[in-house]
Amino acid sequence: MKQSIIRGTGKGIAPVLVTNHDLEKIMDTSDEWIRQRTGIEQRYWIPEDEEIGSSDLGFIAAEQALKNAGWQASDLDFIIFATLSPDIMFPGSGCLMAAKLGLDSTPALDIRQQCTGFLYGLTTADAYIKTGIANKILLVGAEIHSSGLDKTTRGRDVTVIFGDAGAAVCIEGVETDENVGLLSSALHADGNYAHALTAELPASRLPQRMPPDVAIDDPRYFPVMDGPAIFKKALRLLPKVTQEAFEKANVTVDDIDLIIPHQANMRINQGLGQYLKVDDSKVFHNIQKYGNTTAASIPLALHEAMEEGLVGKKGDTVYFVALGAGLTWGGIVYRFG
Ligand code: UT7
Repeated sequence: MKQSIIRGTGKGIAPVLVTNHDLEKIMDTSDEWIRQRTGIEQRYWIPEDEEIGSSDLGFIAAEQALKNAGWQASDLDFIIFATLSPDIMFPGSGCLMAAKLGLDSTPALDIRQQCTGFLYGLTTADAYIKTGIANKILLVGAEIHSSGLDKTTRGRDVTVIFGDAGAAVCIEGVETDENVGLLSSALHADGNYAHALTAELPASRLPQRMPPDVAIDDPRYFPVMDGPAIFKKALRLLPKVTQEAFEKANVTVDDIDLIIPHQANMRINQGLGQYLKVDDSKVFHNIQKYGNTTAASIPLALHEAMEEGLVGKKGDTVYFVALGAGLTWGGIVYRFG
């Protein structure tokens, strides 16, 4: 049976460092509030006067992941690109990034699963590998949030949280009898809570996507979030999906070397750690440096955890877990091969 093995990872970070103190200058917020409520100290945004798309940050991450895997772009037989902030309405960022990698026929699929983009992408890659559709897959998660945020006090609950970044993993199908690769995947979605985290405009369902009677700085053009509702959902659903993913993989928390959660709020991830009764050192955090980078957040955390030497050896077992817009949520148990 073929198993999906991660061969290399990479990251691509937006160039402008924005600290909490920088945000204090443009809206009514404080470093203290942001740190206490979220754990975030800084994030990176693209410059205000330059064109940089998700495909550009994804491209930087992809080049590094390919190098770490010892692969050429031409070795790839499939690209999966996860983003909620594609460069343009269409075509997808996966196509745009593939062209930047010098490719002209490799299939490229965009997925729109927000904070769980990496989990849905990894599960898709695993299914493609197991069914023989592809064997060397590049999975990218990348976001440019900053160009679409409400940078006034009105949007402060959302704007202070998000950062721009890309991250990538190279995944290879390997014939083996060992219990390695994706040991389990548990994915869920509930569109009844779509309104809890959404950007409503522009909307193709309307007679006019950008209604002429709605001002360009109307809140509907920016992401809005019912933060407390999402927070409560996360505290309830993340433990539940963790149980499901662990049962499917036939593991207990003692088998997990590192929990690599989506970086949405440090308090959510600490809460999951407390539920699982593990020391906080077993839960990876890099939200302090990058904020919430949505589809990029788990592969970015994985890349840094591997760079720090925390995981990556054969037999190391990690648990990826996330909840975000959709709502979508899920967990994956992965063992390095
Ligand atoms: O990755 C996608 C999934 N998203 C999440 O997982 C996010 C989940 N939710 C959260 O992380 C938290 O709900 C937030 C960090 C977004 C907000 O924290 P909170 O502790 O739930 O605060 P709150 O929304 O209940 O607001 C508390 C107060 C309010 O003021 P009043 O009404 O008590 O006077 C807000 O207006 O904090 C105020 N506030 C701020 N103050 C300073 C909201 N945002 C800010 C801000 N700076 N940036």
